[in-house]
This record gives sequence, C-alpha cells and structure tokens, in this order.
Amino acid sequence: MFYLCTSIFIPNLVETETIYILAIESSCDDTSAAVLCNDKVISNVVATQKIHEEYGGVVPELASRAHQQNIVPVVHQALLRANIDKKQLSAIAFTRGPGLMGSLLVGTSFAKSLALGLDIPLIEVNHMQAHILAHFITDENNPKPSFPFLAMTISGGHTQIVKVNDYFNMEILGETLDDAVGEAFDKSAKILGLPYPGGPLIDKNAKLGNPKKFPFPKPKVGELNFSFSGLKTSILYFIQRETKTNPNFIEDNLNDICASIQYTIINILMDKLKKAVKETGIKQVAIGGGVSANSGIRTALKNAEKNYGWSTYIPKFEYCTDNAAMIGIVGYHKYKQNVFTSQDVTAKARYII
Ligand code: KG4
Ligand code: ZN
Repeated sequence: MFYLCTSIFIPNLVETETIYILAIESSCDDTSAAVLCNDKVISNVVATQKIHEEYGGVVPELASRAHQQNIVPVVHQALLRANIDKKQLSAIAFTRGPGLMGSLLVGTSFAKSLALGLDIPLIEVNHMQAHILAHFITDENNPKPSFPFLAMTISGGHTQIVKVNDYFNMEILGETLDDAVGEAFDKSAKILGLPYPGGPLIDKNAKLGNPKKFPFPKPKVGELNFSFSGLKTSILYFIQRETKTNPNFIEDNLNDICASIQYTIINILMDKLKKAVKETGIKQVAIGGGVSANSGIRTALKNAEKNYGWSTYIPKFEYCTDNAAMIGIVGYHKYKQNVFTSQDVTAKARYII
C-alpha cells in the first residue's frame, strides 16, 4: 500500500524536513530492506533463507552467499513498495554488527556503495540497539515506552536485560553467560528432531501441551545473568533416557515436551525480569528480538501487567524477528542528531551496545 508521508506526522520535530531512510539488515540469515518516512515504516521486505533448515542451524558461508543473491531484489522491492525513487532518499542506514562477519559484509558494502553513488549520508546501526528502538516505530496500535525503561533482548544470538536511559544511552544489567535463549529453543528443537529454526515450532506445539508434565531444572546463575547450556544438556539426557524405554517417546509426548521446555525457559526469563524491576524500581518493561514472537513470553508479560502493575511493551510481530524497519528507526534518530558514518567504516561481528 502506498503511504503518503508529509511533515504533518512529525509535530514534535523542530525541523520540517521529511526524512526518507533506506535501511538494510543482513546480520544473520534474513536479508531485509525497509523505507521509513520519518518514524513511520512505508515498506519492510524480508527474504528469509530456507537453505539452513536442512542443516539444523545457520551455515555462515551459505548465509553470506544468499545475502549476495537477495540484496539487490530486496532493496528494489522495498523502494517499489514504498513508491519512492532512490533520489528521494535522505540517508542509508545499515547493520554494522553484531552478527556473522560474512553476512554483515554484504549489507555493509552494499550500503556504502549506494550511499556513495547517491551522494547521501551513511548511518551505521547496532543490531541489538535496533531490537530495542523498534519500539519507537510509530504505529497506532503500539504505544511507545518513555525513558527510562527496561528492555529484555531475546534473540538467537543474544539474551540481555538493558536499562534504556535514552535513545543512545543504554546500560547492560545482565546477559547470558553461554547460549542465547533463541539457541536454547533451537537446540532443544533439534534434540526433538524438529527443523531449524525450532523456536516457532516449540511454541506451536507448546500451545497443545501440558507445561507441568516434565519438570526441567532451572539454572542457578547470579545477579541478572542467564545460562541456558545446562538446560539443553538436561533435555538431551532426559530424551535419551526416555527413548531407551519407549522409542516413540518423542512422538507420543511432543506437545507436552514442548510445553514443558517453553514453560521452563519463560520462567527463567521472567524471574530475572522481576529481579531487574525490583532492583531498578523501573516498571516499564519492553522486549525485543526474535523470541519476543513467543506466545508464552507475551502471555507472561501481559499477566505481569495485571499482577505486578508493570507497563509492558511488545513489538508488532514483524518487528520481533530480524527486519530492516528497526534498523531504519535507529537511522532516523541518528539522522536527527546528525550522527553519520564515514566511508571508512567496516562491519563489526562483536559489537556491544
Ligand atoms: O532476532 P532474530 O530473528 O535473529 C537473531 O538476531 O538471532 O531471532 C531468531 C531467534 C531464533 O532462535 C528463533 O528460533 C527464535 O528467534 N524465535 C522464537 C519464536 N520465533 C522466533 N523462539 C520461540 N518462539 C517463537 N515463536
Ligand atoms: Zn536479531
């Protein structure tokens, strides 16, 4: 749908300029491009790479090759759907990191070349910051949090609790010491013989199962940090033990196993969030990252609103998993602050918020 954008949508801005950002995301296995008009998304195209399904996880070399194939058509589609010409763009924002080096390099080189060719500014974006700032995309149905708030970023590569003081002033209060929560979902799914990415499949099956059927131990990790590798091992040993006596154990109990795994993971996340709220006194809680698509965490947060008086913020489904719209909103706020990036920039696989 064509979205007409004029400066009337930005009443709080001093400037009257209409800013068009083309954003590019290629940090893992999704190639995405979006066009934003100020803080509104006018197109957001995502090409998901199916090739990894048969390998049970992302194969970095295949991911970067697929990004190379996808990037031109994806950017073309994003501009087409936004119904704007390249010449109207104000700047190009791209994911600099963190992520897979080969994947990041495709988006970074493409963004640099296009910005150079069009002679417009380049804006580098931290992917994890983008998962948090996705909450500032203007959308009638989703209210925006006010500062300060707590953000829990839960994805395939990260698990962090962050205190967000301002757009670009964030403090990491706790993080995983080993696997990310998305990996816990995906690796558990792999043990059950489910294809990659297993998170959404565990979620789907969990809806039909009994979450208390198979209790799994919760890790004992201090402060606001997380650990998920022990859980994965206990699920593996449990399945090995049970399939010895019943080779069909997984098929016979799939929904209950998925529900029990999901219940354990959500409890681990919620326990730490409660601790973070208690320690900071901040009751505004936002989530971001692929695992925020999970129905269990969404329900748990809604219940926390009723039970503990929290205000919770859950991104629109399409802004939970990797997408360029969230890169674009960071680009927009950097543009307003005149924070641009030089052509010397290179991708950064490890990039702390
Ligand atoms: O943010 P994201 O798209 O990519 C990274 O930056 O990692 O997150 C991907 C992760 C995968 O581990 C995937 O299994 C998980 O998000 N995920 C889910 C669900 N949807 C995606 N995990 C649990 N339940 C879901 N519904
Ligand atoms: Zn992500």
